[in-house]
Amino acid sequence: MSGFCRSSLALPILALMLLTLIIHAALAPAPVSEVEIVAAPSALQEHEVRRLTIELRQLRELLESNLEEITPSRRALLAAQMEREEKEKEQETKEREISEKLKAAPAVPPPARDIKSTTTPAVVAAIPTTKTVLVGLLTVPEKIQRRALIRATYLQLKPPNVDFFFVFGTPSTPEHHRLLEWERRAHGDVMVLPCEENMDGGKTFHFFNHVATTFAAVGTHNEDAEPRYKFVMKADDDVWLHLPNLAARLDALPKDGTYFGREVHGAFMAGMGYALSWDMVAWISADPFPAENKVGQEDATLAWWLAKGNQILHWVSEEKEFYDDPSYVEGWAHHYTPGTILIHRLKNETVFLRASAHFLDAALDEDAPDTTLAKQG
Ligand SMILES: *[C@@H]1O[C@H](CO)[C@@H](O)[C@H](O)[C@H]1NC(C)=O
Repeated sequence: MSGFCRSSLALPILALMLLTLIIHAALAPAPVSEVEIVAAPSALQEHEVRRLTIELRQLRELLESNLEEITPSRRALLAAQMEREEKEKEQETKEREISEKLKAAPAVPPPARDIKSTTTPAVVAAIPTTKTVLVGLLTVPEKIQRRALIRATYLQLKPPNVDFFFVFGTPSTPEHHRLLEWERRAHGDVMVLPCEENMDGGKTFHFFNHVATTFAAVGTHNEDAEPRYKFVMKADDDVWLHLPNLAARLDALPKDGTYFGREVHGAFMAGMGYALSWDMVAWISADPFPAENKVGQEDATLAWWLAKGNQILHWVSEEKEFYDDPSYVEGWAHHYTPGTILIHRLKNETVFLRASAHFLDAALDEDAPDTTLAKQG
């Protein structure tokens, strides 16, 4: 019985203990992990995070598969780029080395004396009689190749009644200074003006002024005070000049008050090349107006001076024999003519040589002796 009793008491106690345990367990705070503390996601957030995680994984897979696909060509591209960059770096290094070496090399010293112009008093005094024309071709030291072309081609046709000079401003570097000195010694055709190199900054004024003063400087030339040149011509370096035709034409023109070239809008002679009779050249030098107004588009400015000074008696515009190169598509282009005086717009060697071939082949005597040998003999 006691066993029963005991057992009959034991059951409720056990049940109570179990209940207590269950209640206790239910009331006690549940054991929590760190993750749950941080995220503590609501049901919705949890869903969202799962979706994003999946998308992220898909994206990564996509990316990895794509990378694998483009890798070979991409690698080649990268390699080529790296090679290019390396070469550039090498080139830079080389250039830096060269420039450092140049810096270390002795500098070209400034020239010992002032540059000489061919147009010295001695040269002027030696001019035997009045010549038809002095031609000044306004150019710059850099264009040595163009000078070589001109000396090799149309200057070979220069008649004795024409004098020809390359006209420069004062050279701005020791190298150019020396170059012009050497060319003067070799060719005797270098005129250096006392002004900086420029085109529309007064170089034309300085040219006519220099010619007027230099060639009038050595006393009276002839007993009857005839000027040394009937005409003075200014020309650009992109022209081909037929000097025999020019001289013949000028000789037929009045020697006073003549303004010769190809007119633009009836207002001035185009700057590619125009000639003035000597009286106008002397006036440009003597009158203060040109000196005071020397800056501006050089061809139009010159016409303005002459008009202002009432210098123009004979306005001679030559339409047919002053023209643009046949290869030039607009403007005054036409084919070469036998009476050609000036061809304009010879911007490159090819067209310059083409004009030379046309005129020189007919004019040069193939059997003439070589000048250098003739001089040595
Ligand atoms: C020179 O100019 C001519 C005419 O404009 C052109 O046909 C030719 O291709 C040029 N030559 C060079 C070497 O630039």
